Amino acid sequence: MPRLLSTVVLAAGALAGLLGASSGTRAEPPSAETIVDAFEAVLGPIRTHRPSHAKGTCAGGHFTATPEGTRLSVAPVFNGQRVATVIRFGVGVGSPAGSDTGRTTRSLSVRFETPSGDTWDMANISAPVFGSPTPEALVQGLLARRPDPVTGQPNPQAVAAFVAANPATTLQARWLAATLPPASWAATPYWGVNAFRFQGADSEVRHVRWVFEPVAGTQRLTEEQTRTLPASFLADELRQRVARAPVEFDMVLQFAGPGDDVTNPTIAWPDDRPRAVVGRLAVTEVAPGPGGACDPISFLQLDMAPGVTYSDDPTLHARTGAYAVSLSRRLQ
Ligand code: HEM
Repeated sequence: MPRLLSTVVLAAGALAGLLGASSGTRAEPPSAETIVDAFEAVLGPIRTHRPSHAKGTCAGGHFTATPEGTRLSVAPVFNGQRVATVIRFGVGVGSPAGSDTGRTTRSLSVRFETPSGDTWDMANISAPVFGSPTPEALVQGLLARRPDPVTGQPNPQAVAAFVAANPATTLQARWLAATLPPASWAATPYWGVNAFRFQGADSEVRHVRWVFEPVAGTQRLTEEQTRTLPASFLADELRQRVARAPVEFDMVLQFAGPGDDVTNPTIAWPDDRPRAVVGRLAVTEVAPGPGGACDPISFLQLDMAPGVTYSDDPTLHARTGAYAVSLSRRLQ
């Protein structure tokens, strides 16, 4: 191809890429406003609570890294000193009146506050995978479930068509359907799900995912308990435990192996990947009722801990803005 023509072709391709205009190019991901609008299309205006994990209880405690944590991350959180934490335990429902016994996720959100003034936020769930591979699928899945103005219910054909076209969005629901819900906020693992990059003391950067493993072990409700327990029991159960002794979780890193997808949160990495215990979280207090330090904040700030950076997972990148918009609507 003559040089001038090839330059024009390249420039046109670059422009089409920027505009997302040519077939096969990736369209712009949905904006944070579009994402939160999609939640509101399903749930109605959200002004008093979170659109996701709407039910929750504030708690507090501290985190201390292990020597292995100090080796694997240069972030101040992992320097071995005791780090104060603001914690929120949640239930993956769209209303604060949702039930604690349903086959949805439970959550553990943590804000680390280091003595030097750095903060680091994370929001983890009690399932190893997320329900959408991309922010686009999340938005389309929500819009497919918009209630019909006449019936007040989602249109089953729209939902079926969406699911058929987006099978990866069923993977979390399948895991939840096959797994009984946690018997306690203290007795379930919580996965970070998205992949991150950790810079170690040796300067090496590693792709990791993390999970908070309950030191007391995992306990699940029985089928019968899912039918007989009251809709709200998790908060009081946690208060009683913490009144006796701190509730503890080990933070465990899992390292990506060759070929592991670091961009798709609907696929767990194989169990045989190397792991390391990098710290212990102790929950030492639980709010006596609604409200508390976790309420007026959102657990995903723009700033990550120094030495911890985002992977190329598009859902991770979508979270930051969406959480900020959600918080701003809640605080209006
Ligand atoms: C496209 C990706 C995602 C979007 C757009 C999204 C959106 C949201 C929004 C808008 C909120 C409410 C935030 C607030 O008002 O403070 C929220 C909360 C939450 N999300 Fe996501 N999310 C995404 C992915 C994930 C993933 C992968 C996880 C799994 C770890 C997750 C776990 C949570 C948890 C635990 C909360 C409750 C946080 C709290 O306790 O305040 N989300 N999400």
